[in-house]
Amino acid sequence: MENNRKVTLTYNDGKDNLDMPVLKGTLGPDVVDIRAFSKTGMFTFDPGFLATASCESQITFIDGDLGQLYYRGYPIEQLAAKSDYLEVCYLLLNGELPTAQERQAFERGIMRHNMLHDQLMSLFKGFRRDAHPMAVMVGVVGALSAFYHDSLDINNAEHRKISAHRLIAKLPNIAAQAYRYNKGLPFSYPKNGLTYAENFLHMMFSTPCEEYKVNKTLALALDRIFTLHADHEQNASTSTVRLAGSSGANPFACIAAGIACLWGPSHGGANEAVLKMLDEIGSVENVPAFMEGVKNKTHKLMGFGHRVYKNMDPRAAIMKETCDEVLNELGLHNDPKFKLAMALEKIALEDPYFIERKLYPNVDFYSGIVLSAIGIPVSMFTPIFALARTVGWISHWAEMIADPAMKIGRPRQLYTGAQRRDYIPQEQR
Ligand code: SDX
Repeated sequence: MENNRKVTLTYNDGKDNLDMPVLKGTLGPDVVDIRAFSKTGMFTFDPGFLATASCESQITFIDGDLGQLYYRGYPIEQLAAKSDYLEVCYLLLNGELPTAQERQAFERGIMRHNMLHDQLMSLFKGFRRDAHPMAVMVGVVGALSAFYHDSLDINNAEHRKISAHRLIAKLPNIAAQAYRYNKGLPFSYPKNGLTYAENFLHMMFSTPCEEYKVNKTLALALDRIFTLHADHEQNASTSTVRLAGSSGANPFACIAAGIACLWGPSHGGANEAVLKMLDEIGSVENVPAFMEGVKNKTHKLMGFGHRVYKNMDPRAAIMKETCDEVLNELGLHNDPKFKLAMALEKIALEDPYFIERKLYPNVDFYSGIVLSAIGIPVSMFTPIFALARTVGWISHWAEMIADPAMKIGRPRQLYTGAQRRDYIPQEQR
C-alpha cells in the first residue's frame, strides 16, 4: 500500500505544513491518509462522505465512471451469468470461489440453519398485521441476538462464521414469514432439497393445502437478483453496519441497523418507490409532464442516479435482461409497466437534464418490475434487497472485526450552534 508519495498541506498562512502519505490500492483512486490531520488543530469536512474513503476493504470494487462492479475481483456480469447466489455468498465471505467440496459443505451449513427458533414466531405476532415487512425484519433480526448467546463472541472467528451462516440462512425465512403474517397466512417452513431461491419462493407462497410447484425459471431469475444485490462496497447501509459493528455490538444487532438504513427511499426503498412512480405516471402520454416535475425538483425519477455510478449501473443492464426473460416466460412481454419503464428510460437518457447530471438507471429501476412479474408484492421488494445484501453486510462486518487496527467510528463536526451562554430562569424569558 505504501508508495512514498505524499501531499503537503500548508496552513496557518503558510507558516506550517503537514505531509500526508498517498496510499495506492489494487484498483481505483489513490487516497490521502489524513490520520495525522488533527495535528493541524482542524477537522476535515465532508458531509455525506462524497470524497471520503472510510476504510480499507478487499471485498467489492466499483468503478463509477466505467460502470464496473467486481465481487472479490470477479465482474458482476460473469457472476450473474455463470455463478449462483450461494456460491457468491461463499466468495464474498471467504475471498475465493469454492471447490466442489467447499461448496457442498457451505450449502449444507446454510441449509442446516434455515429454520427459526419456535419462540421467535411469537415475536411476529406482536406486530400489527399491516406492519410494513421491513419494520418486522428490523425487529425480528435484532431479536436474533436473544437466541444465540452461544456464538456472540465477536473476537472468535468460529463464532463470526456461525453468525454469518445463521444470518444468510435465516433472513429469507424471516422475510417470508413477515409476508405471510401480513397476509394472514399460517407460517411456513423451509424445505431442504430446494435451492436457496426456490426455498424462498416455497416459504413465501406454499400453502398447507397442496404441493407448491416452484417455477424454475422464476427461481433462477430471483437467484440472479439476489446475486446482483449481494454487495456494493461502502453504501449507506453497509457503512451503517460497519459503524454499529465498530462499537463491538453483536452481528445480529448490526445487521438490524443495516436493514433500518436500507429501508430509506434514497437507498434500498427505491425499488418500491419506482413501482409507485410508474403507477402514478400511468401511461407514456404522462411522461413529459412528469419529467417537468423532475426538472423543477417537485419529485425525483426514482431508480435513476447514483452516488458512485456516473455511467450505467452494470446491475441495471443485467436486471433489464432478466426482466425481459421473466416477462417472456410469463407471456407478459407487453407488460404496460415494463413498456412504460423502457419509454421513461429512453426519454431520460436522451434528455440534457439527465445527461448533464450523469443520471442513469440504477439497480432499482427494473428490479421492481421483475419482482412484480414473479408475483412478489411491492411491500416485499426492500425485504428481498435486505435478505440478498445480508451476505455483503456480514462480510464487511467480519472483515472489519478481524482487523486488529479496528477502532470505534466516531466522526467530529463543524459546530455552528450558540456560543456559551448562562441559563435564563423561566420568569425572565
Ligand atoms: C441504491 O450507494 C450504493 O451503492 C447504493 C446501492 C447499493 O447497491 O447499495 O447502489 C443501492 O441505493 C441505488 C440508489 C437508489 N435510489 C434511487 O433510485 C433514488 C433516486 N436517486 C437519488 O435520490 C440519488 O440519485 C441518489 C441518492 C441515489 C444519489 O444522490 P447524490 O449522489 O447525493 O446526488 P445528488 O442528490 O447530489 O444529485 C446530484 C444532482 C441534483 O441536481 P442539481 O442539484 O445538481 O440540480 O442530480 C439530481 C439532483 O437533484 N438527481 C436527480 C436524481 N438523482 C439525482 N434528479 C432527478 N431524479 C433523480 N433520481
